[in-house]
Amino acid sequence: MVVGGRTSGVLFLVVLTAIVTAVTGNSEGDALVALRRSLTDPGNVLDSWDSTLVNPCTWFHITCNQDGHVTRVDLGNTNLSGVLVPDLGKLQYLQYLELYKNNIHGTIPNELGNLKNLISLDLYNNNLTGIIPPTLGKLQSLIFLRLSNNRLVGRIPRELVNVSTLKVVDVSSNDLCGTIPTKGPFQHIPLSNFANNPRLEGPELEGLARYDTNCI
Ligand SMILES: *[C@@H]1O[C@H](CO)[C@@H](O)[C@H](O)[C@H]1NC(C)=O
Ligand SMILES: *[C@@H]1O[C@H](CO)[C@@H](O)[C@H](O)[C@H]1NC(C)=O
Ligand SMILES: *[C@@H]1O[C@H](CO)[C@@H](O)[C@H](O)[C@H]1NC(C)=O
Repeated sequence: MVVGGRTSGVLFLVVLTAIVTAVTGNSEGDALVALRRSLTDPGNVLDSWDSTLVNPCTWFHITCNQDGHVTRVDLGNTNLSGVLVPDLGKLQYLQYLELYKNNIHGTIPNELGNLKNLISLDLYNNNLTGIIPPTLGKLQSLIFLRLSNNRLVGRIPRELVNVSTLKVVDVSSNDLCGTIPTKGPFQHIPLSNFANNPRLEGPELEGLARYDTNCI
C-alpha cells in the first residue's frame, strides 16, 4: 500500500535521525569521558560528567550549540592534573579549549590540529612538555594561542605563520629554541610574549635559517 509505504518510510527516517544524533552526540561525550579518565580531579569539578547521558550538554564546564555539539570546554583554574588525550581532536565543533592554570603534564596532542572551528587554545600555566605541534597550523579559525608557563621545547612551528586569524600568541616562559617568526600574524605579536625562553634567539632575520641550528 502506497500510504503505508510512505508512513513506514517516514518512521524509518525519524528512527535513523535519532540513531545518528545519539551516535554523534556520544562520540563527543566519549572524547570528554576519555579526558576525564586521564585527569586527576581533587576538586571534583568533573563529577557531573556522566557517561550514561545521551550527550554532554548538561555537564558543568561544557557548552553546546543549538544542535547539541560541544563548543566550549571551560576548565581553567580547577586544580586538574594528568595528561591530555588525542580524543580531544574529535570535538569537531569546539571553539574554546580552556585548560589554563592547572597542573597538566605530558604533551600537546597532535590531534588538536583537527579542531577546525577552534578560536581559543588556552593551555598556559600548566606543566606541559614536548613540542608545539606543527598540526596547529591547520587551525584556520584560531585567534588566541596561549601556551605560556609550561616546559615546551623545540621551534615555534612555521606552520603557524599561515594562521591568518591569529591575534594573540603567548609562548613566554617555556624552553623553546630557534628564532621568533616575523611574518603574517607574527608581525603584530609583542616580543614580550616570547620572553623567558633562554634558548630562543630573537626575531627571525630575512634569508637566515639560523633557527635550525642547535634547536630540535
Ligand atoms: C584548588 O585548590 C586550592 C588549594 O587546595 C583550593 O583553595 C581551591 O578551592 C581549589 N579549587 C577548586 C576549583 O577545586
Ligand atoms: C612538573 O613535572 C615535573 C616532573 O615531570 C615535576 O618534578 C614538577 O614538580 C612539576 N611541576 C609542578 C609545578 O607541579
Ligand atoms: C602556507 O600555506 C601555503 C599555501 O596556502 C603553502 O604553500 C605553504 O607551504 C604553507 N606554509 C607552511 C609553513 O605551512
